[in-house]
Amino acid sequence: MTGINIISTGSYAPAVAVTNDDMSKVVDTSDEWIKTRTGISVRRMSGGEPTWHMGACASKQAIERANIDPADIGLIITSTITNDFSTPSVSCLIQREIGAVNAACFDLGAACSGFVYALDTARRYLATDDNLKYVLVCAAESLSHITNFEDRSSCVLFGDGAAAVIVERSDKLFAAWTGADGTGAKFLYARTAHNIHPFMPNVPTVIDDETDSGITHNMLVQNGKEVYKFATKALPGAAKNAAAAAGLDIDDIDIFVPHQANIRIIETAAKNLGVSMDKFYVNIDRHGNTSSASIPIAFDEAVTSGAVKRGQKICFVGFGAGLTLGAVIFEY
Ligand code: ACO
Repeated sequence: MTGINIISTGSYAPAVAVTNDDMSKVVDTSDEWIKTRTGISVRRMSGGEPTWHMGACASKQAIERANIDPADIGLIITSTITNDFSTPSVSCLIQREIGAVNAACFDLGAACSGFVYALDTARRYLATDDNLKYVLVCAAESLSHITNFEDRSSCVLFGDGAAAVIVERSDKLFAAWTGADGTGAKFLYARTAHNIHPFMPNVPTVIDDETDSGITHNMLVQNGKEVYKFATKALPGAAKNAAAAAGLDIDDIDIFVPHQANIRIIETAAKNLGVSMDKFYVNIDRHGNTSSASIPIAFDEAVTSGAVKRGQKICFVGFGAGLTLGAVIFEY
């Protein structure tokens, strides 16, 4: 099967750093509660820069490091649930900024699993289109735009950021497994703002009779306990399915880069998978949960710090709203 080579990575973290003590000025919480329940110390938030700007900055860095001509990028896929606009796509705005004049552009919405889905999609394009040389896969998220800063159980979790990779066709190992469970949609969602038109009564679309009553804002609504239960099963399940697709044992994987949602989720999932935490790359303490941007931000950090090396077998594993889940395993 045709695989991919990740030529380069890039990332962007907004300048505004919000500590747990800062959060305790907004809601009734404490540094101690947030650290012990989530592992988060500080998260970055957009100080006004749009999602597309963060994505473009990360993409420029990846292009510079790959030392390629942006005109040779044939496709841009951006994973996001926090586009600044319903249309155009974040990918089109990134294309405008980086001069990738020959690229087709679209966004992909699979929440925190989005980067895994996007990388798998890039591989499929590369496998079926010989004219495609490079794909830019980006994830850009401004969760602060949809965070409910009156809900202490969710607002302490999220942050903003972006990251990107340049990929090309390769014979190296690549395998993916992706899935979803729409019956869990009610456990984690945010409405889209929309008009109430003259021919429709002012009734919000109901996602679930019990949990949805009275919620008309467009901020994230989360059942933390249900998401926790799902996540601790989804992570090992997706990783095992991708390993089976790759013809590998879980022990063959050198480094896992999981979605950075909560350190307790990652620790419990690692235990369920039977893998030591030493093999998990974690940076949630410094970024919080940046949805689909969390895996590529962590990977960029792991690459630039030397924590991952060429030739190693890497597993990206994501889980999130939808509910969605998925994993890719590849040789870096
Ligand atoms: N500060 C202080 N107290 C708090 C806070 C807070 N920020 N949030 C909740 N509490 C309180 C609750 O009110 C509750 O108090 P009570 O016992 O008096 O009622 C107490 O802490 C315990 O609340 P729980 O909800 O039981 O806390 P829990 O240990 O389950 O932790 C958390 C909550 C962190 C949200 C956890 O459920 C979790 O991590 N869930 C998964 C969330 C997640 O990762 N979501 C994203 C994944 S998918 C994606 O990335 C989009």
